[in-house]
Parts: sequence; C-alpha cells; structure tokens
Amino acid sequence: MVRAKSDDADGGDRCTLDDGLRSLPRPGGGRRRCLKGAWCMTVVDDGAFSGFAERARQRLPRLFADYVDGGAHGERSMVRNRAAFGKWGVVPRGLRDVSRIETGVRCFGQDWAAPIMLAPVGFAGMLHSDRETGAARAAKRSGAGFAVSTFSIDAMEDVAAVGGKPFAQIYVFRDRDLTRDMLARAASCGIEGIIVTIDTAITPVRERDVRNGFRHLARPSVRQLIGLAGRPRWSAGMLKHGMPLIGNLRPYTIVRGVMGQAREMAAQIDPTLDQAGLEWLRSEWKGQLVVKGVMHPDDARLSLDAGADGLIVSNHGGRQMDPSPATIEVLPRIAEVVGGRADIVLDSGIRRGGDVVTALALGATAVSVGRPWAWALAADGERGVVSAIETLTQEVRDVLGLAGLRDIASLRAAGPCALWRM
Ligand SMILES: Cc1cc2nc3c(=O)[nH]c(=O)nc-3n(C[C@H](O)[C@H](O)[C@H](O)COP(=O)(O)O)c2cc1C
Repeated sequence: MVRAKSDDADGGDRCTLDDGLRSLPRPGGGRRRCLKGAWCMTVVDDGAFSGFAERARQRLPRLFADYVDGGAHGERSMVRNRAAFGKWGVVPRGLRDVSRIETGVRCFGQDWAAPIMLAPVGFAGMLHSDRETGAARAAKRSGAGFAVSTFSIDAMEDVAAVGGKPFAQIYVFRDRDLTRDMLARAASCGIEGIIVTIDTAITPVRERDVRNGFRHLARPSVRQLIGLAGRPRWSAGMLKHGMPLIGNLRPYTIVRGVMGQAREMAAQIDPTLDQAGLEWLRSEWKGQLVVKGVMHPDDARLSLDAGADGLIVSNHGGRQMDPSPATIEVLPRIAEVVGGRADIVLDSGIRRGGDVVTALALGATAVSVGRPWAWALAADGERGVVSAIETLTQEVRDVLGLAGLRDIASLRAAGPCALWRM
C-alpha cells in the first residue's frame, strides 16, 4: 500500500530505501537520485480518490502537484494516517431493514447531507480556474460543510456569497488588529463560524517544496517556467483571472505575487498563541468557534475551557508534525475527554467510506478531507468536487447498510461495537 516509488513516466526502477536525512534536497533545487536512478518519494494509497489524484498530477505543474501531495520531513505521519485505518474493520450485519439509509448529520451548528466537510486548503485557487468559489458551490450543491483557508485566492467575501454558510479558517496573527479585522470581515459577509488552526506555530521543512523551490515562485527559475509552460491547460486556466493573488489577504499586504504574500503573512502567525490567546479570540468572536489541530486530550480540554464550540482532530494531513501519531489513534482519548460536550471532526487520511464510519464509531461527529477535494478540483473543477463528495457519500452509505445501520445516529450508538480490531 505504501511504498517509495519512481516517478519516471515509464514507472522505472523502484527505489525501496528510505534514506531519511540524506535525501534532503540539494541547494538550488535539483531532485535527488536514489539508487538505480529513480526519484524517491512517498506514495500513499489515495483510496476512492486515486483517479482524481492521478489526473491532478497530470494536469498540475509538478511544484503544485507536490505541494498538495507532500508532507513534512520524512512524510511518516502522512503514511501512518492511512495505515492506521487499515487496523480497523467494520463488522458486517444482516437481518436488519436497511432499505432506507440516511447519511445526514448535524455538526458545528449546521445540517450536512453527509458527515463530510471540505477542510481549509491554502492556495486551492491555484489548482483550477474554478477556484475556492467553485469548490464552495460544489459543497453547497452536495450538502457538505466547507471551510475557506486564510490563504485562499478568492476572498472569503466571494466564497460566502456562494451561500453555503462556509467556515472561515483563521490564524491568530501577531498583529491582533489584523486578526480582529479578519473577524469583522467574516461577520460582515455572513460567516457564522470560524476555525482557528493551532498546529502551525512552526512551519516545518517540506522536502518536496524545497526541492521544487515552491516558496520562491515569486521569481520563477528557468526550470520552474519550463514546468509551468509544460501544463498549458492549467496555465490558460490561471491566466483567465489575471495574475493570481491571495485575495483573502489583499487588504494586509502590498507585496507582489502569491508566494511573496504568503511568506509575509505566514511570518505573522503568532507562535505564542496559548490558552489566553484562545480566550481572547473567544471574546472577539460571537459565532461558532472551532479549534483545528487538536491531537492531545489536554489541548481538547484547554480549548473547551477557553470556550471553543467544536474541535478538529487533525495533524494537518501529515504536513506539520513528523512523526506524529495518526489522528484515528488519538481520537478515542480525545472523545473521552470531550464527553459529548462538543462536536469533533476528524481529518488526515480519510480516503474511503470505511474510514468515515470508523472515525464516527470511535467518537467523531463527522470527518473532513483536504487533498481529496484539492485533487478533484485540480482534475475537474467544481464538477470534480461534487463527484468526489458523492463518491465518499456513496461509500459511507454502502458501509452503513452492510453494517446493518440505517443512519448516523445508529452508528454513533453502536460506537466501537460496530468495529473489529484487525
Ligand atoms: C495543499 C494543502 C493546503 C492546506 N492548507 C491549510 C490551511 O491553509 N489551513 C489549515 O488549517 N489547514 C490546511 N491544510 C490542512 C487541511 O485543512 C487538512 O487538515 C488536511 O488536508 C487533512 O488531511 P488529508 O489531506 O489527508 O485529508 C492544508 C492541506 C493541504 C493538503
């Protein structure tokens, strides 16, 4: 399921060595050759979304494909997120009426047609000309939750105008007036819930991005320009709207270029954020407050004590801490501490309906997905995102029915009894 592989077009020789630190990229960007001349990279099972993922990789310039696919350091958390789901099965049950299966759920004060939310994905608008507003339209059409990233190409006002009640993902910035301004903008465009991300105090090395010079895109190298030119469909789509910018952060920076803006604003994320900071945020925001990036029961407790309404158990899809436990491994202890006082969404590695059912049986109210919708958007725009949500929902329905469960409430009531530890 998980292997190191060659990304040569012809499949090439397979590289099976994890050479860890020695595979750090060379200055200047060249990709490192492993034994037998193959390029080393981690490959994870993309589950129900492998078709979208493959098409996204064909359509996107290499540096954007890698930006979406990659994780921090050795990418072990990313691998573990998937592998940990493999330790759970759902017990088949018969002799029950499952002629009608309902997948609807209430989460974070909203009614969703399925227990699925699209997680905040920075720069999603760089993946397809339908941008974040297209993805938000897809979520609305499918009845899924949607969160717009701070680092979005479409401004939150444009995403909110789509009408699906998106959540705004925000960071607490060093400049609290700037943070306040983002909250005021969210409130005035009708956003009812914010998601504050707490697992980004440090930006870790992501080897693929370093290798591709991702953060230096403001002044593209010849190699990068050749890479962009090699994807004419993507380039034409991007130019449809003129030079892309992080529209959501345009009021706060005069720096030119997406990456320049990103660098300046990422440096603004407050690494001193603590419980008092969260309490400050609570006092500034009257709507739903969801804390994202909770991996320890004490952080769950601190967040609820500071007044959070909901939690997202997430290791950022393996893009931050590496190595980290898988989210499904830490969920039961967090759910125990929460004790039903708040909704819990779980993300990182959800790729199959069985993963969704496992997460809900272990205490989550719903799940969210990041890369799956990013791939679907890159592959087919808004239409692709609708199809990705439908695919996952259908799998959830299949698994519920085969487990003899008619709805999400029955699954939550069955809890771990619906599962088998493999
Ligand atoms: C390309 C990409 C960009 C992301 N940008 C953000 C972001 O701006 N804010 C945030 O809180 N999380 C961000 N995340 C993390 C996702 O919200 C989510 O936690 C993660 O993707 C879930 O794991 P999965 O991709 O395995 O589904 C990003 C993830 C990806 C893949």
